[in-house]
Amino acid sequence: MKEEELYRILEGKICTLERREKSTEDRKTYDEVFDKNTLLTLYTLISKGVIQTLDFPISTGKEGNVFRATDEKGEPVAVKIYRTSTSTYKNLTKYITGDPRFRNIPKDRRGIIFLWAQKEYKNLARMYNAGIKSPEPKKLLKNVLVMQYIGCEEQPAPMLKDTTLSDAEKSYKSIKMMMKKLYEEAQLIHGDLSEYNILVEDEECFLIDVGQSVVLEHPLASELLLRDITNITRYFKKLGVKINEKELLDYIRGQEQ
Ligand SMILES: Nc1ncnc2c1ncn2[C@@H]1O[C@H](COP(=O)(O)OP(=O)(O)O)[C@@H](O)[C@H]1O
Ligand SMILES: [Mg+2]
Repeated sequence: MKEEELYRILEGKICTLERREKSTEDRKTYDEVFDKNTLLTLYTLISKGVIQTLDFPISTGKEGNVFRATDEKGEPVAVKIYRTSTSTYKNLTKYITGDPRFRNIPKDRRGIIFLWAQKEYKNLARMYNAGIKSPEPKKLLKNVLVMQYIGCEEQPAPMLKDTTLSDAEKSYKSIKMMMKKLYEEAQLIHGDLSEYNILVEDEECFLIDVGQSVVLEHPLASELLLRDITNITRYFKKLGVKINEKELLDYIRGQEQ
């Protein structure tokens, strides 16, 4: 299928098709996200009824972009698209190597990025199934991940860093419990836990962004757990919550006195 034909079919279904009117900078981003193969993947997801429309961008990150989309039932969903063109894929392999779930690691960029998307999908499923507040994974196809949308009709839930908590102590406690559940039940270390990867909706905290999360036996596990603990304690100490890092570590690992 020719790219123009694809565009014609997808016309009106993907917000970015109005890209011709956008600034050069926006257009550059869009062209990077929506390469021909990604358009084909979106086309497949639309034909299968997983999504109906891709409505508007929520975020442009280092490795991918997140969009608000609408599913077949007319409900909002979040779609994370990993860029296969400009993604800094070289940094990704260190979070994959050593994970017993992925023994054959591809050498090419696209292969690594597809695997990375798979890793995020699997981690999300483990986290969600362990009863941790997080987006429910719905579908993964190549570099496109469809998950539950966290937010209200008007806007996505804000990141923790952009909110004012009414009860910081209570939010800290819920995050602490989620970190323990993640360790004990999902057997994962988040690996990039901070006020940037926690969304707050109606005072409830949701953990997101688990592509880099590693299984407990991964060589980077301890280092990443300590980093997560440092980030979380730094943030909540600033809000006046009394925290002892060592106690938090023992609590997560089930070694409290
Ligand atoms: N399920 C979701 N529902 C609503 N917003 C989301 C969802 N997932 C991600 N976002 C938004 O997109 C941003 C980037 O997503 P994230 O998974 O953290 O990717 P990255 O940091 O790698 O770019 C988040 O900070 C959040 O604002
Ligand atoms: Mg993030």
